[in-house]
Amino acid sequence: MVERKIAPGASAERDAYYRRISQYALAPLWERLNVLLTKEPQVRSTPFHWDYDLCRNVLFESADLISAHEAERRVLILDNPGLDGASAITENLYAGWQLLMPGEVAPAHRHSASALRFILEGDGAAYTAVDGEKAYMRPGDMVLTPSMRWHDHGHEGTEPVVWLDVLDLPFNRNLGPIFLDLYPDDRFPDGSAPGTTRARFGRGLKPVALPSSTDPNSPMFYYPYEEMRAALVASASESDIDPVVGHKLEYMNPNTGGPALATISTFLQWMPAGFSSQPYRTTEGMVFSIVEGEGSLTVEHQGQETTYEFKPRDTLVVPCWGRQRWDVRSEAIVFCASDRNIQEQLGLFREQLEGSNH
Ligand SMILES: [Fe+2]
Repeated sequence: MVERKIAPGASAERDAYYRRISQYALAPLWERLNVLLTKEPQVRSTPFHWDYDLCRNVLFESADLISAHEAERRVLILDNPGLDGASAITENLYAGWQLLMPGEVAPAHRHSASALRFILEGDGAAYTAVDGEKAYMRPGDMVLTPSMRWHDHGHEGTEPVVWLDVLDLPFNRNLGPIFLDLYPDDRFPDGSAPGTTRARFGRGLKPVALPSSTDPNSPMFYYPYEEMRAALVASASESDIDPVVGHKLEYMNPNTGGPALATISTFLQWMPAGFSSQPYRTTEGMVFSIVEGEGSLTVEHQGQETTYEFKPRDTLVVPCWGRQRWDVRSEAIVFCASDRNIQEQLGLFREQLEGSNH
């Protein structure tokens, strides 16, 4: 903690002065400087672990309380305990668990906030339609709905479907430009056949036209787990393991080579059984969803160290500048969403390995 040079309320004269200037919406910077400018990040979000098996029953209770149609979206928000009900899991990201029951429809809408969904359970019979093109979702798949793209969800199967939503809502809200359009019908009209967008953009080719696209978000909105996992396993078998992250790949926008979403960086990470990662920290706020494997994640944050035992479908959060260490018991695959690209684009991103100061 930075030492305060000026004690609050050091004199009645100063207090009276502060009260007087407050009527003009003025305040003394010298009383607040050490809160505003700290030696290292002092974020309010805390590390946390949402145990999926522990919470699954209460999530499914929501299906009896409200329909997806009435709720618009039937979601339990993953409210970071440090953020006082701000509907945020980190300073810049929102996350929630969404439940869609057989036969339900979540009505079509679009918004300025970008979103991704990462599927936790289901039988591949529920879909997200983006601009009318359906992607049928299986566990581990990632589906994007970038800023202002029409989307709706439907369910043609028999098993409940649950996914993790991650949106850049807190970041968007701080900047101001929140917009929402409701489509007049529940479903956006059918667009291209399922798979069309992947066929166009998922083959190592990008369109050349004038003017060239300036959209920073990926046109390819569906990243099936089967293919992403195969890429990760191939990468792991052909290259040396990194002592910090194991093997980690970033989901990419095929048009730019940059991140799939401009505001939410997304990754898939593989760690072998018995792996103990070298501790490190970054300025990202990281949201993890466990896909495969079991082990523990130890987070040291603002002087406190906590170890979380994880298993598939759990969600964990590591705040900005929290030091993380993974100890993996069985081969693990972990999805991660973070605000890394926002920070990198603005020149704010930092990372630090243990024993290093950069
Ligand atoms: Fe939405």
